[in-house]
Amino acid sequence: MLLWLITAVNILWSTAECREPVLHRVGGGKYTWAPNMNLTAWAMHEKFYVGDWLYFGFDKTRYNVLEVSKMNYNNCDDKNFITNITRGGRDVFNLTEARPYYFLSGLGYCFEGMKVAVYAQYAPPDPDPAPLVVRNGCPSQSAGYGIIIMVLALLASSAVMG
Ligand SMILES: *[C@@H]1O[C@H](CO)[C@@H](O)[C@H](O)[C@H]1NC(C)=O
Ligand SMILES: *[C@@H]1O[C@H](CO)[C@@H](O)[C@H](O)[C@H]1NC(C)=O
Ligand SMILES: *[C@@H]1O[C@H](CO)[C@@H](O)[C@H](O)[C@H]1NC(C)=O
Repeated sequence: MLLWLITAVNILWSTAECREPVLHRVGGGKYTWAPNMNLTAWAMHEKFYVGDWLYFGFDKTRYNVLEVSKMNYNNCDDKNFITNITRGGRDVFNLTEARPYYFLSGLGYCFEGMKVAVYAQYAPPDPDPAPLVVRNGCPSQSAGYGIIIMVLALLASSAVMG
């Protein structure tokens, strides 16, 4: 029981929180957000995890970046977009949730291939977890989990005794 709890906590601990976020350059090139690139093919070869970022590098005088619904993505419809990500043309978007995200360029360029769908998922458990050791990059979280583990251990031992 206690072992199970500790394992469960460690799996939680080794997922999203402690992974180094990755910056994905959309399209992979210098100007990453441009027409006539198959961004679907690009996205197929990337793994997107919660906490990662997308980088859109583009000519802001011509293109924009909008987060849209799936239906708008399918129809290349830039009206009623969800978020306007366009700033200076070197713009970053945080993938904060485990869900699909849909982006397109308005102004007609979506029809020239400036659209991409990205499926952010929770990072898989660390293949080699080092339980109960403070790891680089997440000391505060490990302290928090230490307390959770202690509480769970107390609960488990009282359950065993009771
Ligand atoms: C882009 O690549 C995907 C996956 O390889 C393919 O299914 C699709 O037909 C391509 N689209 C275009 C417009 O070439
Ligand atoms: C998006 O934001 C940029 C920068 O604030 C602005 O110039 C542009 O007009 C906006 N685009 C849309 C479609 O609202
Ligand atoms: C994206 O995440 C970074 C680091 O977690 C944070 O500093 C930044 O403010 C976030 N940006 C937005 C737009 O949420």
